Amino acid sequence: MTIPLLRPTVAEVDLTKLVANLARVRGTVKEGVRLLTLVKANAYGHGAVPISQFLQEEKLCEFLGVASVEEGLQLRQAGVTLPVLVLGSIYPFEAFEYAIKNKLAVTIASLEAAQAVCRIAEKMGQKALCHVKQDTGMGRIGTRRGKVMDVLESLSKNPYVILDGLYTHLSSVETDPAFTEEQIGYYRDTLTNMQLRGIRVNYRHVAASTAIHARPDAHYDMVRPGHSAYGLETGYEPILSLKTRVVYVKDIAAGASVSYGRSFIAPKPMKVATLPLGYGDGYLRALSNKADVLIKGKRCRVLGNITMDMMMVDITDVPAVSVGEEVVAVGCQGQEKITLAELAQKAGTIDYELCTLLAARVPRIYKK
Ligand SMILES: Cc1ncc(COP(=O)(O)O)c(C=O)c1O
Repeated sequence: MTIPLLRPTVAEVDLTKLVANLARVRGTVKEGVRLLTLVKANAYGHGAVPISQFLQEEKLCEFLGVASVEEGLQLRQAGVTLPVLVLGSIYPFEAFEYAIKNKLAVTIASLEAAQAVCRIAEKMGQKALCHVKQDTGMGRIGTRRGKVMDVLESLSKNPYVILDGLYTHLSSVETDPAFTEEQIGYYRDTLTNMQLRGIRVNYRHVAASTAIHARPDAHYDMVRPGHSAYGLETGYEPILSLKTRVVYVKDIAAGASVSYGRSFIAPKPMKVATLPLGYGDGYLRALSNKADVLIKGKRCRVLGNITMDMMMVDITDVPAVSVGEEVVAVGCQGQEKITLAELAQKAGTIDYELCTLLAARVPRIYKK
């Protein structure tokens, strides 16, 4: 049985805005610079398969970036044939076998990984597409200064390896330009050393969303837009709206409490609407008593603690709200707008986290 879509809580993804956002990235880089769009973590919560299929159909980018071999396999299973780079450090090394078989490019972040990928590719008699990751200061994964050349040399000599890329990731483009300069400097040194030793890669890549605008000198052969594609960067259009509908309306007396723990006590008689949206949908409990939603174009404050599946909002000043009324938790309604950035600020986090946490049970609806 196909399960019908009944619960009215949905995430709408506007693909026309995705097109516009990537056109903006494309317009920022020189002709010939490739785009690797990040679709890891379920495309930042937007739905990895439909987003990747759309990117492929519309020819919006040349590469996709995922976090793990499993995420890459999910795309291959869905018929995505675009080049895919697995950005995570590969562990266990058996994962290389799946990557090679499915033409997923892998990140090589250590000499051990380089030796393992050569061994496995040779055994399979197939070529491994490798992007060496240099840690220039992010402190996450990557060959540290002094080791990167060993990794590049060992891969460049192996006939079962296609040395497809050398990349690094910048940690603080917005906040620390001097450190960013240092990171790019380390990367440049490696490119110079490679040239001296006659080692070539197909793609040199450094810049994620913020650096695409802040550091045009670091565009090299490819840029890696993530949050700009999804409209989470200033100057880009958010592509996701979170919508639901009122499922219950009531009047409460002054002194009545709302939700678990009685963190909200009505100071006066009030009208309250219950929404089928809660932390089980990825709407953070930390937003209790802090966030607003939009009903009839007006801001309505969340009352009391957000529960797993439902939450309550104040509709005292919104006339004639009844069951079925549309509610926008993220997005625009009338003249008003609630962004993930606003909610993130109230919850003490970043907008990336909020969209990534959007639960699987919230259907994604794609608007072309
Ligand atoms: C290696 C790498 N490149 C690019 C990105 C995209 O970053 P952003 O979303 O800031 O564009 C990420 C995101 O985490 C990343 O890990």
